[in-house]
Amino acid sequence: MDSSKRSHWSSRWAFILVTVGSAVGLGNIWKFPFMTGTNGGSAFVLVYLACVVGIGVPLLMAEAMLGRRGQGDPVDAMRSLAREAGASRLWLAIGYIGIVGALLILSFYSVVAGWILEYTVRAVGGFRGMDKAMLGEVFAGLLADPLRLVAWHTVFMALSAGVVLGGVTAGIERANKIMMPGLFAILLVLLGYGAVAADLPAAFRFLFHFEPKAIDAQVVLAAMGHAFFTLSLGMGAIMTYGSYLGREISIARTSLVVATADTLVALLAGLAIFSFVFAQGLEPAAGPGLILQTLPLAFSTMPFGDVVGLLFFVLVVFAAWTSSISLIEPATAYLVEHFSLGRRAAVLLVSLLVWLLGVAVALSFNDWSGFKVFGLGLFDLLDTLTSKIMMPLAGLLIALFTARVMQRAHVESEIGLGGRAFGLWYGVLRYVSPVAIVLIFLNVIGVIG
Ligand code: TRP
Repeated sequence: MDSSKRSHWSSRWAFILVTVGSAVGLGNIWKFPFMTGTNGGSAFVLVYLACVVGIGVPLLMAEAMLGRRGQGDPVDAMRSLAREAGASRLWLAIGYIGIVGALLILSFYSVVAGWILEYTVRAVGGFRGMDKAMLGEVFAGLLADPLRLVAWHTVFMALSAGVVLGGVTAGIERANKIMMPGLFAILLVLLGYGAVAADLPAAFRFLFHFEPKAIDAQVVLAAMGHAFFTLSLGMGAIMTYGSYLGREISIARTSLVVATADTLVALLAGLAIFSFVFAQGLEPAAGPGLILQTLPLAFSTMPFGDVVGLLFFVLVVFAAWTSSISLIEPATAYLVEHFSLGRRAAVLLVSLLVWLLGVAVALSFNDWSGFKVFGLGLFDLLDTLTSKIMMPLAGLLIALFTARVMQRAHVESEIGLGGRAFGLWYGVLRYVSPVAIVLIFLNVIGVIG
């Protein structure tokens, strides 16, 4: 497709905003706190930070760079880049893995976002008078109720599809311009509240106390996988957003801003959440139910808990919403640009597919809980398949394609990094990222760890 006809973000800041919107999501506010809690606190945080800097940021730059140079949806961008480099069409796999992977992620992401919608509505009434056992029953009751799960999943998919229907600037960019500032404001309010009325110092110690002995192979590998997930890497989202980026913008600098913002949100959300958890003497290692069972308990007893609780769940909805639209856009762009489908038809087709799979995910918690593959229910199966296999594989291929297949001069002119910084980034993609990612794979196969 003629690149002059493609939509472009209205400014450098718009790209930063939408990409931060994609990166900041359930990964930051739901997954990061509970993984930190179950993986030993500061040990996990330390390794996660190292992975974001050492593997995540270089790959974020590479993926955005591929999108902008390729000027197309993930498949067509890879086709023109492979042609330019005189390389095999097999590299198109990067595009296909991304498009399919994003849809698989969205199918369970939307079900979890549906839980959050239910809790947002509950937060309107407040959690006063609920104790630990009651909150446990609420969560278990939700998981056991297929109709309610499917209904909330449907609402969330409709919200997400609605934004993507509006297009690149009028839909995606506008939604982010409203929700992202709101998200930051709420986060700061929560953090301020945590500092004044809860136990911020305890949260700080838990997250940043230097404890290198607690680091083991499991922690390293979990942290590395999470760095991929939280930065939205390898699934075509960053590539597609990068393809709407104007030529005059420095990919390196904007990527740095995005990664910094994503990391800050995770750390600030973690500080706020754990300051509530510790102030109430709750269990940091509660697992996936941490923000759904433990936090409402904190909201039920603390001063202004109703307001703080509602703000918190609105924050999570915004975060999930601006991420889910970035999971719909790659497949939509592919259908529009490759098959000349209208945008409306493309979004409806993509959403319907994801919705159907999501219904199966919702049922996997109750009616279909007997259905297991490799001992995993559908929810865990999709999470494992995407986070532990497809994302690292796509990341590996992106690193290899960028630093070993493309002409170095093309990469250098596109990325906007000078001299030494370029050499460092290029070297990391050539050697460090591939080796690190292969280590994740070995873990999955069970060779180590
Ligand atoms: N990064 C988002 C989060 O942390 C999730 C997400 C959005 C994502 N787009 C993605 C993950 C693309 C992988 C790939 O919640």
